Amino acid sequence: MPPAQKNLTADRSSLLHRAGYALRHPQRVPRHLLRAGRDAWLRMRHRDHVSYYRAVMRSDTARNPQAAVGSRSHESWLRLGKMQFDYLVQHGLAPGDRLLEIGCGNLRAGWRFIDHLEPGAYHGIDISPDILAAARRTLIERDLRDKVPHLSLVQNLTFDFLPDAHFRVVHAHSVFSHSPLDVVDECLAHVGRILAPDGWFDFTFDRTTGPEHQVLREDFYYRTETLVDLAARHGLAARLMDDWEKLPHGQSKIRVTHGTGH
Ligand SMILES: C[S@@+](CC[C@H](N)C(=O)[O-])C[C@H]1O[C@@H](n2cnc3c(N)ncnc32)[C@H](O)[C@@H]1O
Repeated sequence: MPPAQKNLTADRSSLLHRAGYALRHPQRVPRHLLRAGRDAWLRMRHRDHVSYYRAVMRSDTARNPQAAVGSRSHESWLRLGKMQFDYLVQHGLAPGDRLLEIGCGNLRAGWRFIDHLEPGAYHGIDISPDILAAARRTLIERDLRDKVPHLSLVQNLTFDFLPDAHFRVVHAHSVFSHSPLDVVDECLAHVGRILAPDGWFDFTFDRTTGPEHQVLREDFYYRTETLVDLAARHGLAARLMDDWEKLPHGQSKIRVTHGTGH
């Protein structure tokens, strides 16, 4: 499959972009307007981002858990999970490692990690109780109960209930693409404590080379430098993963490590 085309310069929040998009895809306009209306209502009821996004996930998961994590079909759910899994295994994720998945969703990739790792070595966290219920259903469907994975509901990304230097790999796919910068900052401020000395933290994000922007407080677009600088402020090294850029996926990936790089 050819690499997914990334549009790195578009400002999706601008009126011009939105009008052009509506002209190119008129059939998508009613659905977008419904979503914009629902989101405005949810934003009024939930002032902080985590509560707001949890409500978005509740509404989306009630309709379809696979679509709620961004997959339009079961085939794409399987493919996206496999892409995440294969990438980490190629980069050295071994059965003896401990892995924390931030924003694990309904275990699109998580079930493969759980299957690969020793019992008890996988920990998935998420802000949405609804998607975690769907995650438990995935565990049952995939017959992975004997692997006793941990699934925890969280309110923030301080990881205060997790031990020091515990995880060799921390993984967050399509989470910061839905997170304002203060959420990313909170994560980077605390992830170093729980990361093993030789560990790495990979996260995907929606990359722009133009102005940073957001759409409906659901989708956030960042410049690489912003995230690399933020990691440095917390004493962590970060770099864009060039080999991920070659894969058919619209987001980019950054790897964070202790010290000067992995
Ligand atoms: C697009 S889904 C991706 C799920 C999973 N990573 C995957 O690739 O299938 C984003 C997930 O991140 C969760 N999430 C969003 N913001 C979060 C946060 N600040 N902390 C933890 N989870 C978060 C959502 O509830 C949702 O389950």
